[in-house]
Amino acid sequence: MSGIVFFKTRNLPLMREFYHHKLGMKLWLDQRKCLIFSYREMLIGFCQAETAELTGTITLLYNSQLEVNHVYERQRDIATTEPKLNSAFKIYHFWAKDPEGRDLEFQYFLRPEETEELDHRTVEILNPDPAKPKLLLTRMLPDRSMQELLDYFEVSANTSQRDLTRRELMMEISNKEALICLLGDKIDAELMDGAPKLRVISNYAVGYNNIDLRAAKVRNIAVCNTPGVLTETTADLAWALIMTTTRRINESEKFTREGKFRGWEPLLFLGQDVHHKTLGILGMGRIGQAVARRAVGFGMKIIYHARVAKELDFAAELVDFETMLKESDILSLHLPLTDETRHLIGERELHLMKKSAVLINTARGAIVDEPVLIRALQERWIYAAGFDVYEREPYIPRELMELSNVVLLPHIGSASLETREAMGHLAARNAIAIVSGTQAPARVI
Ligand code: NAP
Ligand code: GLV
Ligand code: GLV
Repeated sequence: MSGIVFFKTRNLPLMREFYHHKLGMKLWLDQRKCLIFSYREMLIGFCQAETAELTGTITLLYNSQLEVNHVYERQRDIATTEPKLNSAFKIYHFWAKDPEGRDLEFQYFLRPEETEELDHRTVEILNPDPAKPKLLLTRMLPDRSMQELLDYFEVSANTSQRDLTRRELMMEISNKEALICLLGDKIDAELMDGAPKLRVISNYAVGYNNIDLRAAKVRNIAVCNTPGVLTETTADLAWALIMTTTRRINESEKFTREGKFRGWEPLLFLGQDVHHKTLGILGMGRIGQAVARRAVGFGMKIIYHARVAKELDFAAELVDFETMLKESDILSLHLPLTDETRHLIGERELHLMKKSAVLINTARGAIVDEPVLIRALQERWIYAAGFDVYEREPYIPRELMELSNVVLLPHIGSASLETREAMGHLAARNAIAIVSGTQAPARVI
């Protein structure tokens, strides 16, 4: 059994009811997460997912297992190319066991175009008012951030629980003057060409590697972001990852919950000390400094690599790139993703690190060569790693999920209510300022 077509659904019990009771099909449920059945020579499955794009409708694309295999192979090729070439595809990745207990692994690639007819009401105009400038908001923001947008703009917002597809984004942006978007929204020249009235792209994030700056510049579109307001919150999260990886919090918490704690033991979950160790910071900007400042309280030695020395209000040593890799007990990444920083951490770099070292990435996934890092963790070139970000977000390779020496978070660096409200306020002020012809508080270009 090598081919299976999977669909996400928001209502797994309903699917079960329909296929089992109404159609009398033989189904099996795996890990209570996936519903699988065979149809003709194919395997079809449903997975529970709040972000489902297909609800209640199944499209049978293929007539034979052979055909599925063929398509699957072809699509797998697409998936192994650079992610930016893949923007037309959403990649869903699941795994399950068949009734004999064998692992099934598969990826299903859904073209966003194929999903659209199923969900017409993704974007709604929240406050119809032709007198106001038009803004597109690609996902709803915290309540407190919404009001100032509604006061100034006629807001078209994606009120669903999923991201907009490329085509939806293209369609919705066409008559808008302002855009507030997420770091997962790819804003490129083609999109800008389809939006002749667009004056501002206000990213609801500090990182803006999702936006083609050059394309925006030549089209005279302002690009803004949300620096500063999320610095301390993201630094806190980097520290949560530092503590969790070094002290094996995730493994030991799971162990405790599973009822396996039988009393204090000399050798139970031995990890690594953090205090008085060496913290390496790559990218000594706002967040890098906030992470380093917290390390002072832990009595740590702080080293960093930067293109030019920084003026800092704590003791830290500027070292060259190799020294930082060799001497860090904990290496934390805080660079933006640029052409220069893509895959900055690869095979050579991971080999230079200590076997006892821990790598923390709350910056951007593609700064690290993810397949190489997986090998490094499997073969213990380094001790552990903590991630908030991934190379092909939201896709996370199964190999990574299976490792016990990694901690995986779903990109929640800035995710506190206070900070998300502050980001909303800043993103709104940016958009309003540009459209009203005043100076934006955080303009990139
Ligand atoms: P920032 O203040 O601009 O800091 C980035 C630092 O990286 C700057 O000091 C910059 O140095 C340095 N840098 C850039 N390219 C470099 C290179 N090739 N070699 C060495 N240093 C380099 O930005 P920030 O606010 O701290 O945010 C950093 C990044 O974190 C963002 O771009 C974003 O991708 C990520 N982030 C993630 C989350 C999350 O949820 N996980 C939340 C917020 C931010 P110079 O000063 O010399 O230019
Ligand atoms: C989050 O990753 C951000 O860049 O704000
Ligand atoms: C541990 O709880 C100790 O008292 O050392």
